[in-house]
Amino acid sequence: MRRIYVDHAATTPVHPRVIEAMLPYMDKQFGNPSSIHVFGRETKAAVEEARRTIARLLGAEAKQITFTSGGTEADNMAILGVAFAAREKGKHVITSQIEHHAVLHACQYLESQGFAVTYLPVDENGRVRPDDVREALREDTILVSVMYANNETGAVQPVEEIGALVREKGILFHTDAVQALGMLSFDVSTLPVDLVSFSGHKINGPKGSGCLYVRETVKLHPLLYGGAQERNRRAGTENVPGIIGFAEALKLAQQDIEAKREKYAGLRQCFLDILRAEQVVFQINGDLDHCLPHIVNLSFAGVKADALLMNLDLEGIAASSGSACTAGSLQPSHVILAMYGDEERAGSAIRFSFGLGNTLEQIEEVAYKTARIIKRLHA
Ligand SMILES: Cc1ncc(COP(=O)(O)O)c(C=O)c1O
Repeated sequence: MRRIYVDHAATTPVHPRVIEAMLPYMDKQFGNPSSIHVFGRETKAAVEEARRTIARLLGAEAKQITFTSGGTEADNMAILGVAFAAREKGKHVITSQIEHHAVLHACQYLESQGFAVTYLPVDENGRVRPDDVREALREDTILVSVMYANNETGAVQPVEEIGALVREKGILFHTDAVQALGMLSFDVSTLPVDLVSFSGHKINGPKGSGCLYVRETVKLHPLLYGGAQERNRRAGTENVPGIIGFAEALKLAQQDIEAKREKYAGLRQCFLDILRAEQVVFQINGDLDHCLPHIVNLSFAGVKADALLMNLDLEGIAASSGSACTAGSLQPSHVILAMYGDEERAGSAIRFSFGLGNTLEQIEEVAYKTARIIKRLHA
């Protein structure tokens, strides 16, 4: 049985060119970038070259890029880093109910440390309303964090509007762009943002790689103590192969974004057309007009997500319910719950996400097999 991977929002296969770029840094060029000898100097130069490449591709300056171990660390660095650096100014943070747990749990930790956090609701397309942000702003608000695009539904948030109104008040704005990277073009220099999180493994790069974009006026309290790496922002020997791989992956991801978007939107349409033709009853969670093209989240009434996922897995198809982090816990998705307040809909929600290597033929097979399984589960 051939396997079909349609869970690219959870993680992606590493692109062969990324592996090729990384290999020398696990072999001959293994030096510690902090060492003063030639081994160190060579890897230091490679890390700085990768930083310049990433900065250029994002519209940033090299000094605005801090390498992290991925999206989770970038989110934590932004939220905890800003909150602890600005606690004398105020102790109120605003975020949304549909953020990734890397943001939500960091905010919950802040609450345990005496901060107040407002978790904004979303509309039924899974989007935060800019007016809600405006109303939630307080005298003591120090940070607003709203994701660029949601990892479960693909819903693209009105970050330009939100960022503009937040920054107009002199409040810092962070956005988690982990899922949007590679699907939307980025130019952080023109976006109204102060901090942006990115991750390598969602764009065919290595796991454990990523970065935080930080505008130079932002003060950050470090999360880690140790060496002076990353301009004292992030102690610890750099993940050199990861950084090199991330830069290579970003180069590839930023090529032909339009063609990629068209391809995935086409695969998604074909998938939905087949399900409809097979008379499968489903609800789309979100609004496809404001959604990343490679993600589609569907609820199948009367079907439990875990039963469907298990049956798909037996047929060689890898999809997911909600985010990978909550998939094992059988909790209904907090994102779908925030959108509809409907436990049953949340409990039957499945995310299909397309990416490198997926073909039309594969997606047709996924659709027909999904239809067959749903009919069987209903029988
Ligand atoms: C929106 C979002 N933020 C943050 C993360 C965490 O990123 P990482 O896996 O690189 O820690 C993920 C991963 O699922 C994500 O989808």
